[in-house]
Order: sequence, then C-alpha cells, then structure tokens
Amino acid sequence: MPNLSNDLNSIINKRLNNLSASKIRAFDQKVSSIPGIIKLTIGEPDLATPEHVKQAAIADIQADDSHYAPHKAGKPELLDAISNYLDRSIGVHYDPKSEICVTVGATSALNDVFMTLLNPGDKILVPTPVWALYFQLIKMTGAIPVQIDTKKDGFILTPEHLRHVLEGRGKGAKAIILTDPSNPTGRVYPAETLKALAEVIKEYKIFSVTDEIYAELVYGNAEHHSLSEYISDHNILISGLSKAYAMTGWRLGYIAGPKQIMQNIRKINAFLVTSVTDNVQMAAVEALNNGQNDPLQSRKIYESRLQFMQTSLEKLGFEMATPQGAFYIFAKIPEKYGTDDETFAYELAQKAKVGVTPGRYFGKGGEGYVRLSYASSTEQLRESLRRITDFVNNL
Ligand SMILES: Cc1ncc(COP(=O)(O)O)c(C=O)c1O
Repeated sequence: MPNLSNDLNSIINKRLNNLSASKIRAFDQKVSSIPGIIKLTIGEPDLATPEHVKQAAIADIQADDSHYAPHKAGKPELLDAISNYLDRSIGVHYDPKSEICVTVGATSALNDVFMTLLNPGDKILVPTPVWALYFQLIKMTGAIPVQIDTKKDGFILTPEHLRHVLEGRGKGAKAIILTDPSNPTGRVYPAETLKALAEVIKEYKIFSVTDEIYAELVYGNAEHHSLSEYISDHNILISGLSKAYAMTGWRLGYIAGPKQIMQNIRKINAFLVTSVTDNVQMAAVEALNNGQNDPLQSRKIYESRLQFMQTSLEKLGFEMATPQGAFYIFAKIPEKYGTDDETFAYELAQKAKVGVTPGRYFGKGGEGYVRLSYASSTEQLRESLRRITDFVNNL
C-alpha cells in the first residue's frame, strides 16, 4: 500500500488546513456502532422515489441515451420543466435557454455558485444555525463565512439584524446565503420578512443566494416564497429534487438566476461535471412535469410526524421555535440537563439508543440544542420518543 511521501504531504493545497471533516457525519458514524440504535441524525427521506419517475429513467437507459449531452447546462426538456415549475411555484420566469443550469444535486449547485462569486478574502454572510457544508465549500474558495446568529429572533434573520451586520462585522460582504425552509431549524421565512430583507440586500448591493431545496416541504399555514419574487436581479436560486421526490441518491439539482451571472455559473458547471447523467435528467423531467402531486403526499406524511414529534417533545420540556418546513426539529435540551448539547446527544445515544445531532455542529446559536430528523418511519419515531421519554424522566 503506497504511503504518501512526507515531502509531498506538506505541499498540498493549504486551504485544506482550514477545513474540518463533517462533525455531523463523524457523530453519525460513532453512534451507528451502538447496537439497536435508532438514528434521527441524517436528513435522508425514508420514502421511496415515485414509481413513474424510476420508470422514466429505466426507459431512457433502454433507449440508449448514454452519450455526452449536447447541452451541458441541461437537457432542453429538463430546462423547460424547471422553468415551468418555477413559473408555477414562485411566479418568476427564468429563460430555459440562458437562465437555468442543471447540477449534480444542490451541493454541486452551491459549489458552482460559490466558485463563481467568491475570491480569496471575500466575505459572505451566513445566518446560523445552518447546514454546515456551506462553511467548508465557502472556505474551499478562500472566502470567509461571516456567521449571523439568529437564535434571539426565533432563527429568522430580521432586516434590522442584517443591516446591523452589514454596517459592522460584515461590512463589504459580497453576498448572503439564506436557507428557506431551514435545515436544521425547520423555520420558514414569511413573505413580509423576505420582502424587507430584499430591500436591505438591494440597498447594500450584494448578491443573495437562496437554498430552496426544501421548498416543497412546508406545513400548516406556512407558504414558501423566494427572494427571487422580490429581487430576481440580485438573487441566485438553488434547488433540486433530492428532498421533495426522495431522490437524494440520484443527484439532481439546479440553479436559476440572471443570465449575466448564469453564463459564468454554466461555464463552471461544465468545467466541473461536464453535464448531469442523462437518465437522471429524464427522470427529473417526469417528476416535474407529471409528478406534481408526489411532494404533496410526502408533505402529508411529514406533517403528521412533525405534529406527533413536536407535541411529545414539548411535553417533555424541549422548547423550539415552531418548525414549519423541511423534516427537522431543532429543540432546546431540557433545562434540568444544562446546555451541553454534545454530551446530551452522546448520553442519549449510549443510554437511550436514540441518535440526534448536537446543535453546535450547525454554527453559532446552535449550542444547547439538538436536531432531530423526522424523515424516519412513524414506528421508529414512536419508539424513539418512548426511549427519549424514559431517558428524560430518569435524568
Ligand atoms: C440545506 C441543504 N442544502 C442542500 C442539501 C444537499 O442537497 P443535495 O442532496 O441535492 O446535494 C442539503 C442536504 O441535506 C441541505 O440540507
């Protein structure tokens, strides 16, 4: 087995020194070895990809659609389907020929956008707690993520807070990234807040990047809106099929934005991945054109799980800002336990055999909280709640 020469190890890309391996994955791996554990750690839908979507991919493979796609930004049918979906869902028209790009999941979309916008030393604002991969992708470009702790406002960034940061620590920032609905908090931005944030973004002449991967998963009275509805000339919208259609492993995402910036984003995407797998693109066409009811069914299932989890956890003394979207609950650990979320999560895993993720892994404001994913079967959620109840009652 080859061992890298010491002389070479010291000359690899120095930016890697600033990157840490995912604590969420590491924690998940650690608790995975506990026999009988129920894991509510990972944001992975337990539902299956809809049958008609799978059949579309199979048909495409059978038809020998297996060559370099002529259009690197995406197959024309898929670019049209995405454009129509955005028209229907947020009422903003993106030209399929120049304003949309198909990517390998939302993750590669984020990477394309950060590589397009950010130079070493640039600042980008990141409201926290947040999906922690942003930090690593931003640091890979040499840029600096400026965290904005949103805990005091129920995990919603207010326009006043944004302005305050832009006048202080975040002065000169180039962009802000907003996750809506949020992982890990499940919070959804009301339209009026987005409108007011849009005003500040315009005034300070910065880009906004919205990660709307959970857009289809909103519950109760909550409605999903996009910053693009108010500032389509500043906003770069990222989304994909991973969560709404239970297609995490297919790796299908997309970006939509003004054509001047999309030209560059499409270029970067072509450099990095050439194009997205043919049959995956055709499955996505089927999902978006003929599967409009699929996310509605998932939504019903997740919503009833959320109600059950939220009510049960609140009875046990966990507090939370009401989750209205995605499939996560971000709960403050009971007062009698203190505020050490990491120890709490380890003890819960070892003693009660339930895996939850420590809140501090999601950035500032997450300390004292844990994230529970309810993308698990109802039976598993019921059993995990029984175990959490025993654990908390015996504290
Ligand atoms: C906020 C957020 N954005 C992006 C992703 C990644 O999406 P994809 O699997 O399409 O790359 C996730 C996955 O958990 C997420 O939570």
